[in-house]
Amino acid sequence: MIRTWTLEDETQSLVLASRDDRLPQVVYWGPRLPSDEARTLAEAAARDVTGGMLDRNPDLSICPEASQTFAGQPGLLVRAADGTPLVPRFRYVEVRTAPGAVDLVWRDDDFGLTYHARLALDPQTGMIAARAAIEADEAVLLDWLAAPVFPAADACLEMIDVSGRWCGEFALNRVPWVPGIRLRENRTGRTGHEHLPLLYLPEAGATNTGGCVTAFHYGWSGGHRMVAEELPDGRRQIQFGHAGRTETAPGRRFETATLYACRSDRGLNGCAVSFQRHLRDRILTWPKPDAPRPVHYNCWEAVYFDHALPELTKIASRAAALGAERFVLDDGWFGRRDDDAAALADWTVDPRKYPDGLGPLIDHVHEEGMSFGLWFEPEMISPDSDAYRAHPDWALGHADQTLGRRQMALDMSRKDVRDHLYERIAEILSAYEVDYIKWDHNRVLPLPDGAQTRGTYALLDRLRAAFPAVEIESCASGGGRIDFGILERTQRVWLSDSNDALERMRIQHDAALLLPLAVTGSHVGPRRCHTSGRMLDIRVRAWVAAQRHMGFEMDPRELTEDEAEVLTEVTAWWKRNRDWMRQADILRLDSADPAIIAEEQLAADGGRFVVFAGKARSSDQIVPRPLRLTGLDPAARYRVTLLNREEAPAGLSRGATALSVGPVTMSGQALMHHGLVLPWSFPETMWVLEGARL
Ligand code: DGJ
Repeated sequence: MIRTWTLEDETQSLVLASRDDRLPQVVYWGPRLPSDEARTLAEAAARDVTGGMLDRNPDLSICPEASQTFAGQPGLLVRAADGTPLVPRFRYVEVRTAPGAVDLVWRDDDFGLTYHARLALDPQTGMIAARAAIEADEAVLLDWLAAPVFPAADACLEMIDVSGRWCGEFALNRVPWVPGIRLRENRTGRTGHEHLPLLYLPEAGATNTGGCVTAFHYGWSGGHRMVAEELPDGRRQIQFGHAGRTETAPGRRFETATLYACRSDRGLNGCAVSFQRHLRDRILTWPKPDAPRPVHYNCWEAVYFDHALPELTKIASRAAALGAERFVLDDGWFGRRDDDAAALADWTVDPRKYPDGLGPLIDHVHEEGMSFGLWFEPEMISPDSDAYRAHPDWALGHADQTLGRRQMALDMSRKDVRDHLYERIAEILSAYEVDYIKWDHNRVLPLPDGAQTRGTYALLDRLRAAFPAVEIESCASGGGRIDFGILERTQRVWLSDSNDALERMRIQHDAALLLPLAVTGSHVGPRRCHTSGRMLDIRVRAWVAAQRHMGFEMDPRELTEDEAEVLTEVTAWWKRNRDWMRQADILRLDSADPAIIAEEQLAADGGRFVVFAGKARSSDQIVPRPLRLTGLDPAARYRVTLLNREEAPAGLSRGATALSVGPVTMSGQALMHHGLVLPWSFPETMWVLEGARL
């Protein structure tokens, strides 16, 4: 007997089929099918059997079962409380369907285990959200539970997953598909720079702008495990779940986080847009949804731990004059925090630095027309802190563990720890008008543990319920905690500690595979970048920040008059455009010149766009190749203006490119298939083009 269920929107169908009460398999996920095809497909999808094989192919189900002699990694590894492995055979109980969603319940009576899965397709964003849970009649030990398992297309030659480092987030790895496993397991206890839970599967020939692609993101902040496996029979499976064995206690219910899955016929960009829109429009909750994203000023790279009210007030005034609208006081305001060796968990204002509390600084910030944000690193404790001296048992891990940034993590699974943090943070938020928290997390955990992440989520949820108007930024030494789990509770990510505009341009280009402008912090750093030592012109620094949620992070008193003028102008441009750019899709362009990192931000109604074409280094060819745009209406005409054309170096750009002298009008077809011819430019610069549909 075959049962089928179909999830579909205007562009895609996903067909689940269960045979003889066994767990269902995804037998089709692709462009939308005719409505009567699910059953035919369920029958037609079965592959042949030949010599050297079992007499039937074990199901590549949403939770592949070892009990079926499945030749790959099973979707569930569970043991009885005494350690005996349990190898369940799940059988159909019921399936509830609602528009766009299926809830599946399967059961193994021998071991008293019930398997639940839910898959829901959002027709606006094209995103499938999939979760699984296991319930046990008696407490069991869980070693591994995969979110509902998807097959990967046979036409993929490679996969793209993500690693990275401090100041080098979102490093894309292109790995060939070969028989066996590509395993990514993050045992650091936080999402991390090194293991972002994101996977793109381009079919052969797919680019940013064309071809079939599927993509997956696991929305969990405690470290994930990904298995991309090609079975001996050629089928491929994608599994995502929490890092293995991070449930340390026996329990009767375990659940995965949400696995977000999407597909595209428009290249990587189709999936990137699904992630960007789904995050922005479905996952994030904005305290003031209609308020424009404010231009930030963050004082970290201006003063570090050296807080002095007279200096900070001068800095705040200068930042406001440049266009800042929110002043964020970073690390160093609490306890005896004169460097990174002390005071984490002592969340009271340092009276040596602020004898009258934070009030005078906040009043000044408000007088300058800015709102006020404050840095915390709640999940950490310094061994040199009053909190640690009073409660050494609050720290996670052994007392003689290797420290990270000279600090330990707090055990967030403990209610007394969470209560302490809630009370300290709530006291500050009640005493002062704080509209923003920068929430940092600067070390890996001594051991990964799911309870730690749940504890952090619970603290965030409690604070947000009590202070719903406060926005929160997720930071972890830059972009060390970026995932849809933390973003259910926060509104911005500090993408990287690298304010080097060239590094940032690359990082934010690749981060657009997951993140929209609205959440992606990007700041203009000091003239000499503190993390790379590189000196970059204010123009490229300002435009790179203007590609995302803009801010400043240098001591603004270092700016020359010319630099201040450029920054003020670019900031004013950003403010004029931020509202439509917030709703725009960020489309990565396929530049024929590898030195050019280019993107197009296309308005939701398709009526306007901006193109940022950054030249990361000198090109190999002598003059620029045309840059092809994407996503336009082929029949429409667009007027394109090179906004900063006065930056073309006189003498070295001496040809007659149309854009150097004024706007050009071209059809969408020509823009997408011939492209824009840009003037020659110096390396480490960025062209900015505005386009309007006529
Ligand atoms: C790491 C963050 O990424 C920085 O932006 C800054 O907030 C420091 N921590 C403060 O200690």
